[in-house]
Amino acid sequence: MLALVSAVTLAVLIPTLAAPTPGVNIPITKSAGPVQPNSYIIKLKNGVSKNSHLQSILSNFVAGSSLRYKYDVFNGYAVMLKGRDVDFLRQSKDITYIAEDRIASIDDFSDHGLEVSERPNQGFDVSPRSVATGTDAGAGVDIYSLDSGIYLDHEQFEGRARWGATFGNYSDIDDNGHGTHTAATAVGKTYGQAPEANVIAIKVLNRKGRGQTSDIIGGINWAYNAFKQGSRPAIATMSLSGIADDATDEAVNNAIAGGLHFTVSASNSDMDMSNLSPAHVPAANTVGAVDDNNEKADFSNYGPLVDVQAPGVNILSAWIGSPDASKRLNGTSQSTPYVAGILAVAISKYGNKSPTDLSADLKSHASPIVTGEPEGTTNLLATKW
Ligand SMILES: *[C@@H]1O[C@H](CO)[C@@H](O)[C@H](O)[C@H]1NC(C)=O
Ligand SMILES: *[C@@H]1O[C@H](CO)[C@@H](O)[C@H](O)[C@H]1NC(C)=O
Repeated sequence: MLALVSAVTLAVLIPTLAAPTPGVNIPITKSAGPVQPNSYIIKLKNGVSKNSHLQSILSNFVAGSSLRYKYDVFNGYAVMLKGRDVDFLRQSKDITYIAEDRIASIDDFSDHGLEVSERPNQGFDVSPRSVATGTDAGAGVDIYSLDSGIYLDHEQFEGRARWGATFGNYSDIDDNGHGTHTAATAVGKTYGQAPEANVIAIKVLNRKGRGQTSDIIGGINWAYNAFKQGSRPAIATMSLSGIADDATDEAVNNAIAGGLHFTVSASNSDMDMSNLSPAHVPAANTVGAVDDNNEKADFSNYGPLVDVQAPGVNILSAWIGSPDASKRLNGTSQSTPYVAGILAVAISKYGNKSPTDLSADLKSHASPIVTGEPEGTTNLLATKW
């Protein structure tokens, strides 16, 4: 009863309390792609205290809106906004933008309807049985996998995979397979480039390989906080993309500025990736895909913001269903964790560096041998050093 009375009172008071400041009627940033209805990401102006802002805003919501996430890596939050609360929030002078909550998806390029048993495994292994150990194998480094989760009990992980967190209304399992595949490409005992690194599952994608930007930023935020609170060098890897999105870009940029390395996929539409997030974040290591002849994979995106190329065709790695399940997949989803593994080994061998310096090392040790890239796109093949 009390709650009802106060809600009614507030509804009456709002027009006086929140009289529109001239010029404040923030437009809602629309996404060109699919969005989650009623879900928004709010960016606050620099210097605005998130907690004070939220305190005043939340108590004035009258239509059942609710806070979903408060972010640290980004001065903002995610909220479900209903009815006239949308117009109320648009009057806040604290806000830089209100963006629709865009849907992003995985960057492999395969027929998910076919199971391993139905498709003969053919082709060569880009990741032959690893003989590396210790610092040559990424020991001491953490890889945060923002994906569909990881099948922790897969034998490829030897207990080096653990569950970090889940963002979105999902169970703590990899019900897609994509996250298990990408994780083992980074750290799997025989499929991985860094077979002694650890991998931490941050589930931000559903069983269809899709996820909301608000959840993905929740995952970046979690990885960044875990990295900051821990003492191990770390890489976040994201084999996913969506239409360019300022909030995602800013979260990734801030995390990189704080020392967390990122590998991100260029995606698979055989087009310039400059309009995709997080692919187009310049400070992230953006990875394209090549085949076993070091020729551009026909699906791979390209463009000036691709940093390196890596193997992404017929990549054999772990799958869900049983502890020894495997599958071959194509995509920049596959080439991206390969580079995460390479970075883990470099950090382990030579010590951690700033993301800028490690990216420079990655490029200076890469081989300029990739063919078939359009002019203006790197021909550097990521190579261990
Ligand atoms: C979460 O998912 C479950 C199962 O799909 C569903 O029953 C429930 O309503 C969902 N909860 C929310 C808050 O969306
Ligand atoms: C990957 O690409 C190769 C070469 O185009 C093709 O033969 C193979 O069937 C593809 N694999 C999948 C899983 O789509």
